[in-house]
Amino acid sequence: MKKFLTILLVVAMLIPFAALSETYNLATAGSDGELSITMGTNAEFPPFEFVEGEDVVGVDADIAHEIANDLGLTLLISNMAFDSIIPALTSGQIDMGIAAMTVKEERLLSVDFSEPYYNARQALIVKVGGSVVDAETLKDKTIGVQNGTTGDYAAEEYTADVQRFGKALDAVLELQNGKLDAVIVDEPVAKNIVAALGNPDLILLDAVAFEDEFYAIAVAKGHPELLEAINATIKRIQEDGTLDAILLKYFPTEE
Ligand code: ARG
Repeated sequence: MKKFLTILLVVAMLIPFAALSETYNLATAGSDGELSITMGTNAEFPPFEFVEGEDVVGVDADIAHEIANDLGLTLLISNMAFDSIIPALTSGQIDMGIAAMTVKEERLLSVDFSEPYYNARQALIVKVGGSVVDAETLKDKTIGVQNGTTGDYAAEEYTADVQRFGKALDAVLELQNGKLDAVIVDEPVAKNIVAALGNPDLILLDAVAFEDEFYAIAVAKGHPELLEAINATIKRIQEDGTLDAILLKYFPTEE
């Protein structure tokens, strides 16, 4: 009887975790038996995600912590190539892709997206005195992008000569070295990188009317409860001021 009770107690204690993992259909559990949720990202995209010391930090990492806290789960972060995030979701290696990821029709074929949490667009970075001065002169030029991003797709509209890099920064460095005519990357990241390099010859050229893009969190298809939980956190942080505080923390110079 005593043994039976012990077993019952142990099972009862395990139920909340098991239930959580089942409810959200989570791919990952921590080694210490603590239940975790894994965010996949590409931490080469400041200020949304970047590496500081040993940690992945940034707007998206902070949002992920809010989601994990709301769910009572430990957050794990898996840093990978940007174009590996959707495959990692569909193969169940990660639970959510949070990587300044733009909602795109093509991507909706393989993953689901949360409600949007940020509105961005692409930006064109050129060198002062370079060959690109407007949309017309951008045509058929050598354009650097981060592989598999919406900047990559935007560049394809202008040229067959798209140079793809794993990191946006490497593309900008190549532009600085005179190996590229322009770089197309998300505007907040373009501003961040150009400011960090402190090279007055690198400028954002307001010459192309890029479309509005909306960042959202990607999850594998067939996880409606997880998607709902993520949306609940997004709604909460939008309403209680947490998201504004996070943005202010990482965009200190903007209003
Ligand atoms: N917003 C762009 C896209 O969805 C670029 C995102 C790149 N993100 C990153 N963490 N490297 O394609």
